Amino acid sequence: MVELILNESFLGGVELDREEEELLAGMGKSYPTVSDEYLAAVAKAKRKLRGLIAEKNCAPLMLRLAVGVALRGHLRCVVEDRRALRHRSERTPGRASPHGANAGLDIAVRLLDPIKDQLPILSYADFYQLAGVVAVEVTGGPEVPFHPGRQDKPEPPPEGRLPDATQGSDHLRQVFSAQMGLSDKDIVALSGGHTLGRCHKERSGFEGAWTSNPLIFDNSYFTELMSGEKEGLLQLPSDKALMADPAFRPLVEKYAADEDAFFADYAEAHLKLSELGFAEE
Ligand code: HEM
Repeated sequence: MVELILNESFLGGVELDREEEELLAGMGKSYPTVSDEYLAAVAKAKRKLRGLIAEKNCAPLMLRLAVGVALRGHLRCVVEDRRALRHRSERTPGRASPHGANAGLDIAVRLLDPIKDQLPILSYADFYQLAGVVAVEVTGGPEVPFHPGRQDKPEPPPEGRLPDATQGSDHLRQVFSAQMGLSDKDIVALSGGHTLGRCHKERSGFEGAWTSNPLIFDNSYFTELMSGEKEGLLQLPSDKALMADPAFRPLVEKYAADEDAFFADYAEAHLKLSELGFAEE
């Protein structure tokens, strides 16, 4: 835990309070120790990511990449995923990938490569999760703790882990709960990630943003869900499923009414998602 506190202070001046320590201890996490050189690279990556995201307005894509990587391989297959994404974009520059759930992530990889090339010591797994954390932070969202030390593994990614936007709550529970061990609360809070960004016809077949301020992380995803469909905004079938499900809906109502509650639950769920398969005892 001392190591953890050092890491946190180094990264953002944030020291863990007793409540956070208890939460992490309860999650059975045992974080690896990384070198000072590695910590310095993480800090530098954080600064560079803030610059990149400000310049390119690419926070939504960075968050989607981080989530996609975390869901796909429990962080084990980042290198292989990255090679596949990169290769695909070289073969078909500017074209959508044949795998709908990954389509467009080659763009994120290409945006991030120049920063990663300056920081060879960092694992891709850490770097991509850091990009997701920074994306949430710089758009006004909650601070999600970041713990370094993920290792890249070369095994090919297992298929079928990403959620399908055309399906309902059973499918969401299958992906997030049965496969990942996340709760209903985590599923609804994480769905609030769609407060950022939009769908692109050529990537997913859907078109449009969920909210009218897609570069701001707030609770408007939930207020829009509550106020029903609106001209110019989008709700995926998987978003609508949150309103239809009797266990999900009260959480949507809660987050629409109370942004602080959403931020607290989101930060906890994002932390869990970003550490699936990492630092588990
Ligand atoms: C619940 C299951 C989920 C489904 C079915 C889903 C589906 C989708 C789809 C279809 C897109 C559009 C891709 C495109 O056309 O560019 C998208 C984008 C996005 N997703 Fe999700 N997603 C899910 C969960 C999440 C989670 C958990 C997060 C983050 C916590 C997230 C963050 C995003 C972001 C930020 C974008 C916008 C990307 C951009 O603007 O380029 N999604 N998602």
